[in-house]
Amino acid sequence: MNKFSTDIKIGIDSIGFSTSKYFMDLKTLAKNRNVNLEKYYSGIGQKFISVFPHNEDTITIGFDAANKILTKYNSTDNIKLLLFATETGIDQSKSGAVYLHKFLNLSSDCRVIELKHACYAATAALNFAKNFVLANPEQKALVVASDIAKYEMHSVGEPTQGGGAVAFLISQNPRIAVIEPFSGVYTNEVMDFWRPNFKKEPIVFGQLSAQCYISALKKCTESYFKSSSLTIKDIDLYCYHSPFPKMVYKAHERVFENSESTCRQFLDDSLCYSKIIGNSYTASLYISLCSLLENANANFANKRVGLFSYGSGSIGEFFSIVLKDGYSNFLLKNQHDFLLSNRQEVDFETYCNFHKDEIIDGDIEQFCTVSNLTLKMIKNGARVYEFIK
Ligand code: HMG
Repeated sequence: MNKFSTDIKIGIDSIGFSTSKYFMDLKTLAKNRNVNLEKYYSGIGQKFISVFPHNEDTITIGFDAANKILTKYNSTDNIKLLLFATETGIDQSKSGAVYLHKFLNLSSDCRVIELKHACYAATAALNFAKNFVLANPEQKALVVASDIAKYEMHSVGEPTQGGGAVAFLISQNPRIAVIEPFSGVYTNEVMDFWRPNFKKEPIVFGQLSAQCYISALKKCTESYFKSSSLTIKDIDLYCYHSPFPKMVYKAHERVFENSESTCRQFLDDSLCYSKIIGNSYTASLYISLCSLLENANANFANKRVGLFSYGSGSIGEFFSIVLKDGYSNFLLKNQHDFLLSNRQEVDFETYCNFHKDEIIDGDIEQFCTVSNLTLKMIKNGARVYEFIK
């Protein structure tokens, strides 16, 4: 077979996500910040946010997401590329991908790397993975996107915190969705949201960032429709990067306001998970995809989903996938329902403790985790993980 044949269909073969074991209801935050709860619940559209103890990090939840898909639907055979997308990585030099490679028992001839561009890096990873499989059709690429979104206490971003990890496997003849060959990209240097090396939490111009998100969506869709020769009517469903749910409704209405294909119900379905997880940065768009496919009461086989990825700084990309017949048989709805319905609610004091900077050296206080992997201690700057028996 010609290695670069365009007949090869490449896409998402399996997809799963994870988040913290703990969440805070925003009514707790509203009470302690003296803010009208309706600002959070309806103005921002957020109900709960995931909050993380120090022994859960982007590696432990990334492991949990990847382990779910590998245990249920795939073996690690033929995974020759692991891409780890994050903007809240654990080290300035060592790639978090190496830990995942080890904990997932991937083969030593599997290439690994960590990628960063704010919330966009998972989509960059998806593109790299697609091209890798196009060149090596018998091999598979695993993408893990994992982030913990923490804003400064008392800042306007505080109710939009959260975190989560998503893992998806890219292969030929995928079982869930084929990635289409066209997309619209828009890059524009802007200071809307950034986190300099000396800071734990980002500096953000919230209103500017929302404008940048909408401008990028406009530019990306114009370019997508031009390069694909498709029209709005050809897009059946939408999924968005969700920094907070209201952002998605606003952007969608602004750009697709006259579109007949606009379907509010399906947008609601795509946001069920992010409404109770919060912003999960790189993972957010793909958790929205899981949410749409797992919560909509409809069969979307052969439907085209338009996906919008946005990373501050900034870059946007609008691309599309087409769902396969029988895709729903390969979703992890039950595992995700279990994960989300077994979380523990925290009070304000616990939230404040979780929010503190992690210790630089020593034992980490142990809380129950979603997976059996925990961050046990930091020794001489090195992170020591342990499987709990
Ligand atoms: P704010 O400025 O405090 O909120 O924070 P606001 O005053 O704009 O109010 C928000 C909404 O609540 C408004 O609705 C109010 O009217 C409404 P809108 O006018 O927008 O429709 N409201 C109420 N509604 C009902 N009852 C009430 C009430 N009071 C007010 N009593 C802001 C909002 C987004 C600025 C803040 O949360 C923030 O800075 N968030 C972080 C930045 C962010 O998420 N930006 C999104 C785009 S950038 C992006 O997506 C990238 C990102 O994920 C990072 C990355 O790429 O790495 C962030």
